[in-house]
Amino acid sequence: MAEIRQKPQIVSEATEAQIAVHWREEEYYYPSAKFIGQANLTDPDVIERFSEKNFPECFREYADLLSWDKYWDTTLDTSDPPFWKWFVGGKINASYNCVDRHLANYKNKAALIFVPEPESEAPVAVTYRELYVRVNEFAALLRDFCGLKAGDRVTIHMPMVPELPITMLACARLGVVHSVVFGGFSGEACGTRAADSQSQVLITMDGYYRYGKLLDHKAGADIALEIAKKEGQTVDKVLVWRRHAGQNASATPFVKGRDFFVDEVLTKYKGQLVAPVPMDAEAPLFLMYTSGSTGKPKGCQHRTGGYLAYVTGTSKYIQDIHPEDVYWCMADIGWITGHSYIVYGPLALAATSVMYEGVPTYPDAGRVWRIAERLDVNIFHTSPTAIRMLRKSGHDEPDKYNYHFKHMTTVGEPIEPEVWRWYHETVGKGEAVIVDTWWQTENGGFLCSTKPALDPMKPGSAGPGMPGIYPVIIDENNQEVAAGSGKAGNICIRNPWPGIMQTIWGSHDRFVAQYYAKYCKNRNSKDWRDWPYFAADGAVLAADGYFRILGRVDDVINVAGHRLGTKEIESACLTVSEVAEAAVVPVADEIKGRVPEVYIALKPGVQPSQAIIDKVNKVIETMIGKIARPKHVHIVPDMPKTRSGKLMRRVLAALSNNMNTGDITTLANPDVVENIRELVQGKEAVALTDGPEDLKRFGTEE
Ligand code: WTA
Repeated sequence: MAEIRQKPQIVSEATEAQIAVHWREEEYYYPSAKFIGQANLTDPDVIERFSEKNFPECFREYADLLSWDKYWDTTLDTSDPPFWKWFVGGKINASYNCVDRHLANYKNKAALIFVPEPESEAPVAVTYRELYVRVNEFAALLRDFCGLKAGDRVTIHMPMVPELPITMLACARLGVVHSVVFGGFSGEACGTRAADSQSQVLITMDGYYRYGKLLDHKAGADIALEIAKKEGQTVDKVLVWRRHAGQNASATPFVKGRDFFVDEVLTKYKGQLVAPVPMDAEAPLFLMYTSGSTGKPKGCQHRTGGYLAYVTGTSKYIQDIHPEDVYWCMADIGWITGHSYIVYGPLALAATSVMYEGVPTYPDAGRVWRIAERLDVNIFHTSPTAIRMLRKSGHDEPDKYNYHFKHMTTVGEPIEPEVWRWYHETVGKGEAVIVDTWWQTENGGFLCSTKPALDPMKPGSAGPGMPGIYPVIIDENNQEVAAGSGKAGNICIRNPWPGIMQTIWGSHDRFVAQYYAKYCKNRNSKDWRDWPYFAADGAVLAADGYFRILGRVDDVINVAGHRLGTKEIESACLTVSEVAEAAVVPVADEIKGRVPEVYIALKPGVQPSQAIIDKVNKVIETMIGKIARPKHVHIVPDMPKTRSGKLMRRVLAALSNNMNTGDITTLANPDVVENIRELVQGKEAVALTDGPEDLKRFGTEE
């Protein structure tokens, strides 16, 4: 790897679209000889093998890691852009690949190790044999008790327990499309997703532990069903797993003929085997809802063959997973990271995948490191938010525990170089290699990352495009931004790849509009080169080919690595009868990166009160979930608006973050800005800054 250093640049005459980015170039860090000695990917030829001249056939290498029922005829079919098809003609079953095929060599090895939140409960290891038995029995139940068949959709609203991957793999065994809704989302959020996916079955759990309390989780199911019904979808069965055998953590009454405890029904299916259904490579495997730039969450539809190939290949080469490793990804399975890098990728490789039920700092800041020590975890995967939180609550805690990571991942948000260095020196004890993986729900797997044994690490930068991924930065004038220019732009991927989503469930036009319309060179072209994928992230490309991700360019707020749409939160606020207008902006937070801050203007004659603020907080929590809880709710006399009546979220974001508001003289009501400033920042003038790139850009497209 050539050591070309980029000189920090300052570009003063930058336009809004080409914001100058100046930051200190960071020093490289190198993987240890010990890591390289055991790594799965040490052959520098990989770059050549996955170069454009070998595209798309290079991805055979990933697909060949799987067991196919029928080998495919066409690696990539581009006849209907941008609806790419991968491994066409192939037949495969994801459950077979993650379970059955490991029985010959690994049946007694732990597939999953479940760590309950209460330390009084011992970890539970589920062997590959046990996983096989449980997946089969539950698949029999889904097929024979629920009447589910390939292509049907099922909504799953569950916490981090082994029954969640068991449920997913049972669906996959039958070709049933699972739609997992993050357990921390509210019943309402679950209901709208169940309706959108037309699910007739909802799978949930009675309760789970968080901060030492056993929460009633099933209560959400009743709300979800009500909401789904309002939206035209009847869910006729609710399957309820139990956290403790024979007990019920939920106080909600059971509806006869609708709600069933899974363990009671399962007695009829004990020991039953269900043959895995050979699915078309292009058959959908799952839906994962995510926020985008319109109010409604989008059901990202992922295919079976291409997705599984992509997550298996990247788990092997970038996560460096071997069957003898103990791998712990701290994400929740209810997000894409959990699907790809707790369940499908690791299990396809016969790894041992650790799942933790609860809060990382419960009951104290040493919890994570105790788990790592006890289970002898050697691969660790988490987000900058979790790293910041662990650093703040227990800076020297890792020193007290005897664990050794060979490899660590950071994902979900940009990581500050100081935080990266703590991760490296203290958590990784200076021994572990780090990958900063950039990707999205839509992408299936990693898009940018260093190759752990081949590339040096650079704190704060994700690294180059992955093998077979050709990223590029394009500006608002449709010009490619050159490496090392110091200018930010929109990061796009020039080519299709096997992990890319197939479409937005039920909304093909929205799929094209959201990801391809912006930079498509020719709508009639069948050449993939004319269809760059628009990721909606700002980024800078350094001279060494490393991408540094700046954050979202649309109206999505990345809270602790989770995407929330500002419009979703605004529509929730507007359901409070006193509220006339609502605007949601991101505000910088020391731990969570960004959090929402809410501005509301009241209807004429309504007096501001704490009660209204409470109502707004409550409605956001019930319609979306605690994760969307705003830092502040400000009641303002009026919203800053342009003369044509457009709400200026950019100005509010500047006020919330003590940033310069820029030129406001063109507003219809410039005086209101000073009013709001006093309300937010207090009477005294505070020191203003330019702010970070994503906040500077927020709302500039309005
Ligand atoms: C952000 C999570 C900086 C980015 C896998 C992206 C990152 C959004 C990184 C997707 C990273 C993800 N560095 N930013 N390594 N990884 N992001 O869909 O803004 O939940 O668009 O997928 O998270 O979030 P999502």
